[in-house]
Amino acid sequence: MAEVKLINVWKQFGEFTAVKDMNLHVKDGEFMILLGPSGCGKTTTLRMIAGLEEPSRGQVYIGDTLVADPEKGVFVPPKDRDIAMVFQSYALYPHMTVYDNIAFPLKLRKVPKAEIDERVREVAEMLGLTELMKRKPRELSGGQRQRVALGRAIVRKPHVFLMDEPLSNLDAKLRVKMRAELKRLQKQLGVTTIYVTHDQVEAMTMGDRIAVINQGVLQQVGTPDEVYNRPANTFVAGFIGAPPMNFIDATITEDGFADFGEFRLKLLPDQVEVLRDRGLLGKEVIFGIRPEDLYDAMFAQVKIPGENMARAMVEIIENLGNEKIVHLSVGEVTFLGAFRSESRVVEGQEVDVVFDMRKIHIFEKGSGKAVF
Ligand SMILES: Nc1ncnc2c1ncn2[C@@H]1O[C@H](COP(=O)(O)OP(=O)(O)OP(=O)(O)O)[C@@H](O)[C@H]1O
Ligand SMILES: [Mg+2]
Repeated sequence: MAEVKLINVWKQFGEFTAVKDMNLHVKDGEFMILLGPSGCGKTTTLRMIAGLEEPSRGQVYIGDTLVADPEKGVFVPPKDRDIAMVFQSYALYPHMTVYDNIAFPLKLRKVPKAEIDERVREVAEMLGLTELMKRKPRELSGGQRQRVALGRAIVRKPHVFLMDEPLSNLDAKLRVKMRAELKRLQKQLGVTTIYVTHDQVEAMTMGDRIAVINQGVLQQVGTPDEVYNRPANTFVAGFIGAPPMNFIDATITEDGFADFGEFRLKLLPDQVEVLRDRGLLGKEVIFGIRPEDLYDAMFAQVKIPGENMARAMVEIIENLGNEKIVHLSVGEVTFLGAFRSESRVVEGQEVDVVFDMRKIHIFEKGSGKAVF
């Protein structure tokens, strides 16, 4: 097993910077997710760890071994890094059986036949492929093929798994199933795993920690709870959670309200304290609240007009069965609420909306950095 460290890692493609000064420490046995929008540098980062791409600057460590450092002229090729990769387009050998596909990396390494047999059977058992050993890839479902690709990766017992959107070719239902299986398998094997996805649900459900990346810059590294409840900035706050967090321009008044022009909400004493310390009283900020932290007043415990409530117009209702996503407006100010299904909101009518003031976030106006 091994930890993986990136220290001040940069990757340039000509003029373009794909990865900027990345510092990431993946612990031994950890399931780390690299999460971010398309083109943010996830695959590039993974490829630098794999040795398929050389960093322009910085150091990459796998365990105690420095595997890449352009300044020192160090570059360990992929085959000597003791890693296994699973990609989105996992190419199985079509003419080989499941057994031979899984056995292939061991054959390449000239592992004795008896040991190959033992390890292939062990892996097949773990992945529920025992009954399918004699089949060819075309005789398998998408999920089964995916499991063969995983089997081929784990049979070598590598120190690190690198996975690049390995589930993205599967249908929604199978993804949910494979998500759980993969997580269980990773815990069982205890192999340090770095898993790339742009799907925040996959990230939240699978990761021990999530590294959120935007435009080549690492935004925050934290547990699913941390990135969800204490996002470091508006990017992380907006990227994690669906429907996304509401952001509303506000002014913090001297008497401790968030003023939106059309209405205002009373901040809690400890929140006012923090804002005063940061010199933000009287200043413009970005106010954030997640749709699930807004309530139809009919179902709210604590409702104090002029403090945690606003009368809003119901623009559109998306009924998801278990909840209603309600598009709300107060004059020019618009936001989403995720109300419980019992809410009797009606499009075109007004509703009293309660804000859970414990759950609000305040971000600095220019930088988008979280105050809390
Ligand atoms: N070989 C290359 N030459 C030039 N630019 C590249 C090269 N490889 C990647 N890039 C650019 O670097 C940026 C990051 O690419 P990368 O593949 O790491 O993104 P990603 O986060 O994996 O995105 P996706 O979710 O779409 O797979 C992109 O803007 C991409 O166009
Ligand atoms: Mg990619």
